Amino acid sequence: MEKVLVTSALPYANGPIHLGHLSGAYLPADIYVRYKRLNGDDIIYVCGSDEHGVPITISADKEKVKPNVIIDRYHESNKNAFTKFGMSFDIYSRTSLPVHHETAKEFFTSFHKNNLLVEKKTLQFYDSTANMFLPDRYVEGTCPKCGYEEARSDECEKCGSLYEPNELINPKSKINGSTPELKETSHWYFPLGNYQEFLEKYIDEMNQKYGWKDNVLQYCKGWFKDGLKDRAVTRDLDWGIKVPLEGADGKVIYVWFEAVLGYISATKKLFEERGNPELWKDYWQNEKTKYVAFIGKDNIVFHTIIFPAMLKAWNDNNESKFIFPQNVPANEFLNFEGKKFSKSRGWGIDVAEFLNLFPPDPLRYTLASNLPENKDTDFYWKEFQAKNNNELADILGNFINRTFIFVSKHFDNSVPERKNLSEMDKAMVELIESYPAKISNLLENYKVKDAVLEMMNLGRSANKYFNDSEPWKSIKSNKEECGTTLNICLQAIYTLAEMFSPVIPFSTEKVFKMLNATQTDWLNSGKNNLPAGHKLGTSEILFTKIEDEEIQKQIDKLPAVIEEEKDEEITYEDFLKTKLKIAKIISAEKIKKSDKLLRLQVEVGKTKKQIIAGIAKSYQPEELLNKKVVVVNNLKPAKLFGELSEGMILAVEDASGKLNVLSVDENVKSGTEVR
Ligand code: 2FM
Ligand code: ZN
Repeated sequence: MEKVLVTSALPYANGPIHLGHLSGAYLPADIYVRYKRLNGDDIIYVCGSDEHGVPITISADKEKVKPNVIIDRYHESNKNAFTKFGMSFDIYSRTSLPVHHETAKEFFTSFHKNNLLVEKKTLQFYDSTANMFLPDRYVEGTCPKCGYEEARSDECEKCGSLYEPNELINPKSKINGSTPELKETSHWYFPLGNYQEFLEKYIDEMNQKYGWKDNVLQYCKGWFKDGLKDRAVTRDLDWGIKVPLEGADGKVIYVWFEAVLGYISATKKLFEERGNPELWKDYWQNEKTKYVAFIGKDNIVFHTIIFPAMLKAWNDNNESKFIFPQNVPANEFLNFEGKKFSKSRGWGIDVAEFLNLFPPDPLRYTLASNLPENKDTDFYWKEFQAKNNNELADILGNFINRTFIFVSKHFDNSVPERKNLSEMDKAMVELIESYPAKISNLLENYKVKDAVLEMMNLGRSANKYFNDSEPWKSIKSNKEECGTTLNICLQAIYTLAEMFSPVIPFSTEKVFKMLNATQTDWLNSGKNNLPAGHKLGTSEILFTKIEDEEIQKQIDKLPAVIEEEKDEEITYEDFLKTKLKIAKIISAEKIKKSDKLLRLQVEVGKTKKQIIAGIAKSYQPEELLNKKVVVVNNLKPAKLFGELSEGMILAVEDASGKLNVLSVDENVKSGTEVR
């Protein structure tokens, strides 16, 4: 039996949960947790609303209400949507609770008392009309690392980099679109850099022992390569946890610095509610506990670097010692019908809305069998329909249904005896018995999607077994043989119900009622759990088919064209500032450890320069030699993957996702300006 602590990222209580959230950090965790409970492990699963930070104040500003209104509204509605979806959290807490404020302050104070935090003067964006500092998402601009144009003041969502506000290119205030000024302020910095050595070792050790996902490791490596730097852990904002120091008026603890502690405060709250307020320590401060943090890819750095560094800092300076995440199985993103979810552009659907239209299990099954574990995936309405109709209804539902009808009609609705097993019967029994260990192995390694695909394979095999055994013939020729077939089919149903119960819990609960049986331990569920003569319950149809019209109705609701964000207008003079020139590629090579980047040497007239281009997936290096391409020649040099890049090559993506570099005829001289 393992002692396990599972957390899912605390979603901001500033908007509804959509299907993308579910696929990223919630459904895979819930499946894992439900399985672990059946496996007899001692497990708790905590989550809750993240209720501070700029995401909340921006939503409040937009509606001209107090942040309280926003968090109360979305905490309730998200909690309800999660419940309807079948999320089995032990607690869904909130970071506005006193226990959370106290926990966060305790960490901050300990770090301050132990002289870890350094107060530094720094430049911060400021809006003089609104009379306020503009931290984080209040400012948008171009990422100094990757060029993404919707980067936040000190963090880029696209490439995951963190930087100082004065590094952001072309900053614009989100309040009024103006270019904000930089004003001096002071903040407390956490010395993240001091923990790099520890963190590298920790991640390496965890990976060696428990196998971390490749996407997560790559992210961390990128961070370590750049070198960890001090991070400001306070903000000038009037919403959040007040900095517990004299003279720190108007300052709050940075939301990410306290949100991760929300996992701890939620656990405290859980055991307080259960009347055992000290028991949280038995999870968080017990070396035997295995801690798994489920998140989406945009949260990796906070869970693999910042949070562990904070825990280490605490442990180094306090008697009590916290455990660290043993694994952080972060998922990529789920898109919707080929595009990113976007509330503002009306693209996508949120969970509450979805569950008003369809029951939760078909959604859980569809999402679970298409989780973005290694790459982004998509939700398509038609695929949802197909998964429901062709798999849940036609394979699983049909097998269960025909078995029940047969047993009720010919065997008095009781489990028939099994006798004289044929080779085919034995093979089926063996297959059923092998399943719990097989699925367990996948789930223990966070391969949730593969586990779900395997579950349906058992459904397929069971259906085939029913067909190949032809009970409709043997009932006439050899009732004993027919009974054996049906006995084995009922055993298969029992095992299928157990295997599927973490994925489609509402439906499998019905199946156990139909079987008139209770669930057993995971590993025993492949055995023969239904004795001959056992009376079955009443059967019902588990999955109803979804008609084309119903699906078409949903597709028709989507905006025909989603309005692209309007491009910002620039003057002709602005345009002239960008020097586009023709460059000749004189050498091209792959960059080790990056599957995206190529190192190019180019000639622009008489000047030679190096450009790092993200086109390695679209071109073999030799295909590019001597090509005359268009480059942005006066781009400020930047480092990409530790390599100097002195310009940018223009390229367009075609429908297949291949990047095509813009190139010109051989007889255009390199260095020629593009006008
Ligand atoms: O990305 C988000 O929605 C964050 N609110 C996640 C926080 S996870 C943890 F730190 F609490
Ligand atoms: Zn970036």
